[in-house]
Amino acid sequence: MSGHGDPILMTARKGAALKGVAEVPGDKSISHRALILGALSVGRTEITGLLEGQDVLDTARAMRAFGATVTRNGPGDWTVEGVGVGGFAEPEDVIDCGNSGTGVRLIMGCMATSPITATFTGDASLRKRPMGRVTDPIALFGARAVGRAGGRLPMTIVGAADPVPVSYTTPMPSAQVKSAVLLAGLNAPGQTVVTEREATRDHTERMLRGFGAEISVEETAEGRVITLQGQPELTGQKVAVPRDPSSAAFPVCAALIVPGSDILVPGVSQNPTRNGLFTTLVEMGADITFENPREEGGEPVADLRVRSSALHGIAVPPERAASMIDEYPVLSVVAACATGTTVMRGVKELRVKESDRIDAMARGLEACGVRVEEDEDTLIVHGLGAGNVPGGATCATHIDHRIAMSFLVLGLASQQPISVDDGSPIATSFPAFEGLMAGLGAQITRGA
Ligand code: S3P
Repeated sequence: MSGHGDPILMTARKGAALKGVAEVPGDKSISHRALILGALSVGRTEITGLLEGQDVLDTARAMRAFGATVTRNGPGDWTVEGVGVGGFAEPEDVIDCGNSGTGVRLIMGCMATSPITATFTGDASLRKRPMGRVTDPIALFGARAVGRAGGRLPMTIVGAADPVPVSYTTPMPSAQVKSAVLLAGLNAPGQTVVTEREATRDHTERMLRGFGAEISVEETAEGRVITLQGQPELTGQKVAVPRDPSSAAFPVCAALIVPGSDILVPGVSQNPTRNGLFTTLVEMGADITFENPREEGGEPVADLRVRSSALHGIAVPPERAASMIDEYPVLSVVAACATGTTVMRGVKELRVKESDRIDAMARGLEACGVRVEEDEDTLIVHGLGAGNVPGGATCATHIDHRIAMSFLVLGLASQQPISVDDGSPIATSFPAFEGLMAGLGAQITRGA
């Protein structure tokens, strides 16, 4: 929900090695999509392992506002009775997507080709983020958008009464934009085609197929070309949400930099459009084994065994950025504890996440005694080697869950404790973070 409770000061300090099993929550991207596709289907969708973070709860509430019946039966266990493609009702009130860019952008897409009007808002972080990347393509279908200067929320979308199909090349690597166009294409006649020059997470394509849409993906010289046949009848499905690799990143990176650690993180999605961090960590010398590879809920998963490691800096290939875009904050923490320099190029999308993540990480790392360089599209971290990060700072999180969790992970391996000015946004994606880390033996407390 928009607005933001009282800030929660949190502090991490050096302690014993991390040991045990870290069962991270369900994937955030897949959880949003399960609720949205369930709402756009005929019949019942049964979801297990849904992430009950605030972002996803806000999407559940939004789907109710558009007419779907969304019920929580137990922890992670939800059902959605959908209204079918084209069946959305006009919401009676403003749709508040809280902190979630994924929620608001996907929902704007899926209502844009229905003859209804909806007004969207969010918290102070979301109200700063650009929506033009979605309102530009949905205008091609015939939808209209009126928002604040710079295409910011609050914003009203007037859906197209008579939508036309669209052919669109995404101007930036963004699964949210790709997904918004595909979801809009569901209620347009004929074929909607989306081309992306670089592959981004492909959950929308996989799940649309699973719900019964006719969708094809072709690798061409121009990039990935996705073709969706409009106006399908989607039917409710059973969705088992795999564990989130972007949440797994925090205990995994913590175990790598806290001496003597040895943890198991079971059932983590290994979808190749999401696993760039793990590839990068192994290149830096991380001792990670991928055990028991299997398929769960239509996604490849594995159990990750992670032991603390002597790490060295690398140049992360820019073409890998999309497959680890949410993981650069915690990677830069690992880089600070590695020897040598880690160069992260091609990362300008980080500037328009829940915060400007290049700036937030650079300022926080500097405050902790780490030398960094940055430009618009680059973050470079000069590693100090294991045990050599001074710490002893309070880092600003800018209402960004991943910035908060990243600096708390660094505090577990720095010489002096590290605080974050506000840990409350962690609840948007990983409400169990504190309990899970405590279970591994991490010293993370509320207060100074
Ligand atoms: C997401 C796409 C990514 C990612 C976000 C989730 C999604 O955003 O950062 O956390 O579920 O589609 P962009 O599409 O802006 O890259």
